[in-house]
Amino acid sequence: MKVTAIANSNIALTKYWGKRDKKMMLPFAGSVSMTLDSMFTKTTVEFDSKYDRDIFVLNGKELKDGEEYEEVVDHLNLIREMAKVKEHARVVSENNFPTAAGLASSASGFAALSLAGSKAAGLNLDERGLSILSRRGSGSASRSIAGGFVHWHRGEKEDGSDSFAEQIASPDHWDIRMVVAVTTKAEKKIKSRAGMAQSVDNCPYYSQWVKECEKDIENVKKAVRKKDFKLLGKTAEMNCLKMHAVMMTTSPPIIYWTPSTIEVVTAVLSWREEGLECYFTIDGGPQVKIICQGKDAEEIERRLKNMGVAKETHICKIGGPAKVVEDHLF
Ligand code: DP6
Repeated sequence: MKVTAIANSNIALTKYWGKRDKKMMLPFAGSVSMTLDSMFTKTTVEFDSKYDRDIFVLNGKELKDGEEYEEVVDHLNLIREMAKVKEHARVVSENNFPTAAGLASSASGFAALSLAGSKAAGLNLDERGLSILSRRGSGSASRSIAGGFVHWHRGEKEDGSDSFAEQIASPDHWDIRMVVAVTTKAEKKIKSRAGMAQSVDNCPYYSQWVKECEKDIENVKKAVRKKDFKLLGKTAEMNCLKMHAVMMTTSPPIIYWTPSTIEVVTAVLSWREEGLECYFTIDGGPQVKIICQGKDAEEIERRLKNMGVAKETHICKIGGPAKVVEDHLF
């Protein structure tokens, strides 16, 4: 059977940076994110005996080996094991935004692959099961199955059965937006996976980071519940700075910021002083995402464009859950 799924990307409001179990992809701390509506991956999967090896085509290009190909094959193996299926698969995937540049392409990618792949293999997983399967591909992908505001629970169990993400508020609960400033389209030099492993091993502040995350999660959840924008923005921005402080004080240092990143960050701080309520967040790359309320999104985008540092800007609303669609990519 051939199945196609679309999953939205998500941006963390409190970040995930570090695994306590690399094989099971279990985090040291939970995290909270917002699903984005306009940055997504579409993936078609078909298991069939006509394929003599797994085929993976990403954005029109077949990847025959290398890290990304191996990660997809590992994920297909996991699905085959769960579904007791033996056939190889053809996987065709498209992102509608720059891949691997700090815009969470692994999140939407593994969520779409998990939904399409599990269904194509004959499994019928519920949202929790899909989140757990997605997590095995990429931690942040666990947060791209549900829509709206999402909490990935750290969990306690070694088998990972309690480390999954669930919705804390639906997309229509609150009109929050992210204005994305794409400062470079180049792929990042240090992948999150390798970077976070270095931080766990070599950052002297790592244990403090984990403690801060638990407090920040509670504040973000409270902010969402009460629609307290200041608390949301302040907590998310500070959590991002704490994560980047951990990255920068890892040896060797992990520095994703470029001069354009800092230009946008300082602009956000000065806009806020002028009374335009907005906050920044940054992941494993130089892009800056500006968190704002719906009423201010266009003004923020206008100011960003005027600065001339962003190659592209996008206003993202809160997105819905991953879903199965009918139009296949092959
Ligand atoms: C900085 O989920 O890409 O974006 O689990 O190793 O695949 P793996 O890492 P990944 O890391 C995301 C890191 C981050 C923060 C976040 O999204 O929470």
